[in-house]
Amino acid sequence: MKIMSVVGARPQFVKLAPIAHACHHRGVEHIVVHTGQHYDPMLSDVFFDDLSIPKPDEHLGVGSGSHGVQTGSILSAMDEVIMRHKPDWVLVYGDTNSTLAAALSAVKLHISTAHLEAGLRSFNRAMPEEINRVLTDHACDLLLAPTSVAAQHLEREGLSKRTVVVGDVMTDVLFQTRSKVRNQPSPIMDEFGFSAGEYFLATIHRPANTDNRNRLESILASLGALPYPVVLLAHPRLVAKAAEHGITINRGNLVTHAPLAYPDLVASTMRARGIITDSGGLQKEAFLLRIPCTTVRPETEWVETVSTGWNVLVEPENLAEAATRTQPTPVTDTPYGDGHTANRVIDELASRG
Ligand code: UD1
Repeated sequence: MKIMSVVGARPQFVKLAPIAHACHHRGVEHIVVHTGQHYDPMLSDVFFDDLSIPKPDEHLGVGSGSHGVQTGSILSAMDEVIMRHKPDWVLVYGDTNSTLAAALSAVKLHISTAHLEAGLRSFNRAMPEEINRVLTDHACDLLLAPTSVAAQHLEREGLSKRTVVVGDVMTDVLFQTRSKVRNQPSPIMDEFGFSAGEYFLATIHRPANTDNRNRLESILASLGALPYPVVLLAHPRLVAKAAEHGITINRGNLVTHAPLAYPDLVASTMRARGIITDSGGLQKEAFLLRIPCTTVRPETEWVETVSTGWNVLVEPENLAEAATRTQPTPVTDTPYGDGHTANRVIDELASRG
C-alpha cells in the first residue's frame, strides 16, 4: 500500500508525525507532500526535526496569498504530483486550505481519498476552516472521525456510510511527547524565571480575533491585566495584524515570545497555571494535560473539553474572570482516544485498499 499525506500548516505537521511513524514501523510506503502554506521555520521545519518526521518528498512552495490564490495554487500543483506518484490513498488532515485543495485534486483523479479529523463542526460559516471541513468531508471517500460527536455530525449530513471513528492522532503524539518532556524544565520558566503554576500561556491568531482592531485591542488589554505573567506565543498573523492596526502587543503582565517547538510547547503547557487561546489544537492539548483552558471564541469544535469543565468559551470582556476561575473537578473521560489512533488509521486504509 502506498499512502500520500498532504500537509501544509503547523497543526498538520503534528498530526502527520504519528502517521509517518506508524507507516515506517509497518513497512507502508509513505509519500509526504508539503504544500508550503506555512514556510517560517518555527511554524514548519522545527516540527519535522523535533517529531522525527522524514523530510517531505515533495514541496509545492505555495506560500501566502488570499484564500482563493492559496487554495488554487495547491490544487493546480497537486494534480501532477498525484499522477506521478500514483498512491493507493491520499490522506488529508484537518481543515486548512491545503486540506481542501488536496482532497479536491485527489478525488477528481479517482484516487481513494481519506480525511483525518473528519466531522468537526463549529457551525460558524464565517470561519474559513468550517467551509474547508464541510467541503472536504463531502468530497472524500473515507471519513476518519476523531470522536463520536464528529461521527454524529457526519451522519446528519448523510455521510455515515463513509465514516469510521478512529480516535484522535493528536492524542498519540501528545502522550509520546509528554513522556519525553516530563522531567525536562519548561523553556518558558527557564527564560523568564517563572515558577510552575505561576504563568499563563496564550496564543491568539484567528482572523476573527486579529482582523478587527477593537477586538484585538480588547483581548490584549484583558491579557495584560491578568494577575500573573502571560506569555503570548506570537503567530505571524498576530504580529502582522497588530502592526497594521498600530497596536503594541506587550503591556502590563503580557509579554510576547516566538512560537515554540512542539516539545517545548507541551513542557510549557504542563506547568502553566492556565491556557488562553483561540487555537483548536491547544484546547485539546490543555484538556489532555488537565490544564484549565480559556478559549476566546463563541464556539468550539472540541465540545468535550467544555462539557467536562476544563475549557470555557469567552468574549474578551469575560476573559479575566474565566482565566482566574478555580481549578476544574478532575475527570477520567477519554473522548479523544487512547493514543493508538495512527495504527487504526493504517488498518482502515489497508482493509479498504
Ligand atoms: C492556518 C489555517 C488554520 C490553522 C493555522 C495554524 C487555513 C484557512 N487556516 O491559518 O486552520 O489553525 O494555519 O497556524 O488554512 N504567515 C507567515 N509565515 C508562515 C505562514 C503564514 O508569515 O509561515 C503569515 C501569512 O503571510 C498570512 C498569515 O500568516 O498573512 C496567515 O497565514 P495562513 O496560512 O493564511 O493562515 P493561518 O492564519 O496561519
